[in-house]
Amino acid sequence: MDGSRKRHGDTTNQFLSAGLVIRQKEPKNLEAPFDQIVSYLTPSQLFYIRSHFPIPALDRASYQLRIDGAVRQPFALSYDELRSMPSESRVATLECAGNSRVFLVPQVQGAQWELGAVSNAEWTGVPLRALLERAGLAEDACEIVLEGADRGIPKEEPMPPGPISYAWSVPRAKAVQPEVLIAYQMNGRDLPQDHGFPVRAIVPGHYGMASVKWLTSIHAVREPFRGYWNTSDYAYWAWMDGKPVRSALGEMQIKSEIARPRVYETLAPNQIYRVCGAAWAGETDVTQIAVSTDGGRTWTAAEFLDPVRRHAWRRWRFDWLTPKEPGQYTLLARATDADGVIQPDAHDQNYGTYVINHLLPIEVFVGDPGGPQP
Ligand code: MTE
Repeated sequence: MDGSRKRHGDTTNQFLSAGLVIRQKEPKNLEAPFDQIVSYLTPSQLFYIRSHFPIPALDRASYQLRIDGAVRQPFALSYDELRSMPSESRVATLECAGNSRVFLVPQVQGAQWELGAVSNAEWTGVPLRALLERAGLAEDACEIVLEGADRGIPKEEPMPPGPISYAWSVPRAKAVQPEVLIAYQMNGRDLPQDHGFPVRAIVPGHYGMASVKWLTSIHAVREPFRGYWNTSDYAYWAWMDGKPVRSALGEMQIKSEIARPRVYETLAPNQIYRVCGAAWAGETDVTQIAVSTDGGRTWTAAEFLDPVRRHAWRRWRFDWLTPKEPGQYTLLARATDADGVIQPDAHDQNYGTYVINHLLPIEVFVGDPGGPQP
């Protein structure tokens, strides 16, 4: 992200040495340094990593992808066969549904993600629908179950009786959209192992859990899939006829985050500081972004740096003339989508420890950086 003018010049070395932030060593869960990402596309080495189990080592030469279940002609593809099919490249933002969990009060269980369980990359691969067409998807297939090669026993209750694989079911209506890719490249290079080598799914517009890594099976089903991840872990309470119903998470909700300043950063008084961040939404476009520097009392429109591109974030900036008066100030960013939906003020409890898209306060100090904090 573009920092304040004062910082801008001296950040180059920081970018070179910037690394991921550890949330859990094993399995590997690392967060992107959101305040240090300057580019539209997140460099692959700075893209956040979210893994439930130890990372499997798959061999390109023996790799097979099965497409079966509710299809007329089940088949398997080798890596080379997949690569020889017509491909597409698409930019998509992935956000983990638990991103920003550290902002929940009182604190909840789960990885304490700050702002960096979100990143934006260009993905290259074969549209899932091309594979489903070739297999002859049955008329009555309702979901497509994507399964990865990684296995283990999940930590969250209710725990399954033994090791399970990571598998996520995508509704048919989404699975057949042209943007859903069976990807083998990230930012123009082969997928890194942490991000699903040799092949992963990319489901743009949905929370990251749908983009299954180390993909080995595509299985069409005629009944809604009731697997662990769809019903227990990445699920929320939807309301049907006044009754709460456990439903799988899906579309990302509108959200913006402030990259700079950082929490508790000290800023010089009476200077222009360039506040910057990014905003994204699920199946719609982010059309407005506003910033408050007084805890939400007043709002001013910020400026987008990136054009509208469905499923990809838009970076934004706002030049703030910092107050002459030293003190603590609360910054907020608030995005609005093309349908007029605005980021909520508070976290929706129906989502439990997920979908943390409410206004996230960034508290900063204005004053002498060397002096006592007010
Ligand atoms: N796929 C497999 N096979 N195993 C996993 O643990 N994690 C999911 C998804 N795909 C996961 C997976 C989750 S929760 C997220 S947020 C994204 O991968 C993260 O993708 P990344 O590690 O490339 O950022």
